[in-house]
Amino acid sequence: MRYNVVKGAREILADSSYVIQNPEKYKNNWSSVFGNNNPICLELGMGRGIFIIEMAKMYPNKNFIGLELDPSQTATAIKNIGTKKLNNLKIICSDANNIVEYFGKEIDTIYLTFSEPWPKKQDEKKRFTSLNYLKLYDRIFRKNKHIILKTDNKILFASSLENLSEFWYTFDKVSLDLHHDERNIPNIMTDFEVQYYKEHRPIYYVDAKYKD
Ligand SMILES: C[S@@+](CC[C@H](N)C(=O)[O-])C[C@H]1O[C@@H](n2cnc3c(N)ncnc32)[C@H](O)[C@@H]1O
Repeated sequence: MRYNVVKGAREILADSSYVIQNPEKYKNNWSSVFGNNNPICLELGMGRGIFIIEMAKMYPNKNFIGLELDPSQTATAIKNIGTKKLNNLKIICSDANNIVEYFGKEIDTIYLTFSEPWPKKQDEKKRFTSLNYLKLYDRIFRKNKHIILKTDNKILFASSLENLSEFWYTFDKVSLDLHHDERNIPNIMTDFEVQYYKEHRPIYYVDAKYKD
C-alpha cells in the first residue's frame, strides 16, 4: 500500500487538539489529559488511524492513544476523526522507541497492528515484538501486561510468539486466520487489514497477557 504525502502535515498536527505536542510533559499524568482514570490503550504505528478511531467510538469508557512516526499518516488520521468529538482519543506523532519518555506505568493494552515486519534477520531488533521492545513495554504497563497483535506476516508472527513466550506471556487467543475463525473473535479492521481482507490473505492474531 502506498503512503500519501500530505502537504502541510506539520501545520495540521500543530493545530489539532487531538495531538499531544510534548508527550514527555504528561509522563505519569495521562489521567489528567483524559480527565479520568479509565484504562489507557496504546496503538503503535497507527497509520491513518482507522482502527484506533473506531475503538475510541466503540469503547467510551476506555482511553486510546494512537502513536505514529510519519506526519502525513498522522495528519490523515486527524482528518479521519471527522467532526464527532472524541474525548477519549489522543494522538502522538513520534517514534515508538521513545515510549518510555512519554509513559510511566500507566498503559493497560498495547495494539500492534500490521507493524513493519522487518523479515531480515539483521533487522529483527526493529520489530515491535523484539526483546528490546518487550523490555520497553514492561516499563509502561500499569500492572498486568496485555498485547494484541495482528499481522499478515508469518515471520513476524512466529518471532512474536517466541519472544512473548520468553517474556512469560500466555495466549488467550491465537488465530491463524482471524477473518474465518469460527470463534468470531471481536475485531475492528485497520486500513491495511481492509486491503488484505479483499485480497483473501489470512491474518494472524494473538491476544497475549501476563498477569502479576
Ligand atoms: C504497515 S503500516 C500499518 C498501519 C496501520 N497500523 C494499519 O494496520 O493500517 C505500519 C505503520 O507503522 C509506522 N511506523 C513504523 N515504524 C514506526 C516507529 N518506529 N514508530 C512509530 N510508527 C512507526 C509506519 O509509519 C506505518 O504507518
